[in-house]
Amino acid sequence: MSGFLTGEALRAFVHALPKVELHVHLVGSASLPTVLELARRRPSAGVPTAPEALAEFFTFRDFPHFLRNYLAVTSLVRDTRDIHTLVTGLAADLAAQNARYAEVTVTPYNHLLDGMTGDDLLTGLATGRAAAKAEHGVELAWCFDIPGEKGVVAGRETVVFALRERPEGLVSFGLGGPEVGVGRAQFAPFFTRAREAGLHSVPHAGETTGPATVWSAVHDLGAERIGHGVGAYTAPALMEYLAAQGIPLEVCPTSNVRTGQFPSIAAHPIRRLLDHGVVVTLNTDDPPMFGATLDGEYLAVAETLGLTASEIARLAENAVHASFLEPASKAALVTEIKEILLQDTEHLA
Ligand code: HPA
Ligand code: ZN
Repeated sequence: MSGFLTGEALRAFVHALPKVELHVHLVGSASLPTVLELARRRPSAGVPTAPEALAEFFTFRDFPHFLRNYLAVTSLVRDTRDIHTLVTGLAADLAAQNARYAEVTVTPYNHLLDGMTGDDLLTGLATGRAAAKAEHGVELAWCFDIPGEKGVVAGRETVVFALRERPEGLVSFGLGGPEVGVGRAQFAPFFTRAREAGLHSVPHAGETTGPATVWSAVHDLGAERIGHGVGAYTAPALMEYLAAQGIPLEVCPTSNVRTGQFPSIAAHPIRRLLDHGVVVTLNTDDPPMFGATLDGEYLAVAETLGLTASEIARLAENAVHASFLEPASKAALVTEIKEILLQDTEHLA
C-alpha cells in the first residue's frame, strides 16, 4: 500500500507525476514580467507598470473585480507577437511543472473587439503551439470560449469564427465570464452548432453560482466537462448525476479562494465532491494572477485533505482521462503515472 507523504518527499512525488492542465486561460497565464512589459508599452490601459502595484492589482476583492482587471490585461494583447509570447511563456511554465499537455482557453471575441485581426490571433496561436512542442515538449490544444458578459452576439461570433477557421489543435468550445445575470441557456444554439461540428462542450458553471447553473450547463449546453462546477457541492442529486455520467469538474482551488468563493482551501468543497464520486481534476485557471502553479494545487489539496500517494496519483489520472487527448497518448501518460506510484511504493516499502 502506498502511504502518506510529507514535506520534500510529497513535493518530489507531485512534481514527478506527468500532469495535464485542463483549465487555464491564455491571457490569465501571462507571467508577471510579461504583464509588466505589455503594460509599459500601453500605460493608458490602466494596468500597473511596477511589480508592487501589479501585486495589488491582482489582489481581488471579489469575482467582478477579478474580471475587470483580467479584461484590462486582455486589452494589452494586440498582435501576433504578443500571442506567440503568451503561448510560449505558458508552455515554459507548464514544462517547469512537469505538465505535458494543456487545453488552453482562448477568447477570440475579446481580441477581435480590441482590434486584433483573426489572422494575427491564429498565426500567433499556431507558431506558439509549434514552439511549445519543439522547445518545451508540451502539447497544447485550444478551447475557444464565449465571453458571457458580452451576450449572444459574442456567442454567435465565437462559434462562427471557431467553425470557419477551425485551427489545428482546437478541441473544445467554452463559456466564461460572469455567471450572475448571465444565464447559460441563452448560449444553447451556439453550443449545439459547435458540438455538431465535433467540438467538445466545456462551459464554466458553478464557479460563482450554485447547482442550477451546473444543471443548465449539462442540460442546455451538453457539457462534457465543467469549468469549476464546485457550486454543485450543495446538491447531492447533482453530484451523483455528474458522477454517474462521468462529467468531470475542472476544479481550480486557489482561483476560488483568490476570487472570494471560499475563505481557504480547507473550506473548499473538494472533499465533499470526491466523497460523492465526482471526477475531480486540479487546475490553475489564471496562474500568475492567483499566485498558483499546477504542482502547487496538487500539494495544497494533498496536504489539506491528507491524501495518500495513490489518491494524489488518481487526481493526475483523472485529468488524463478527462482530457481530449488521443487514447494512445492517454495510455502512455497513465502508464507513466502508475510507474511513478510504483517507485514511490517500493521506496516506502
Ligand atoms: N471564470 C470566468 N471567466 C474567466 C475566468 C474564470 O475563472 N478566468 C478568465 N476568465
Ligand atoms: Zn476559468
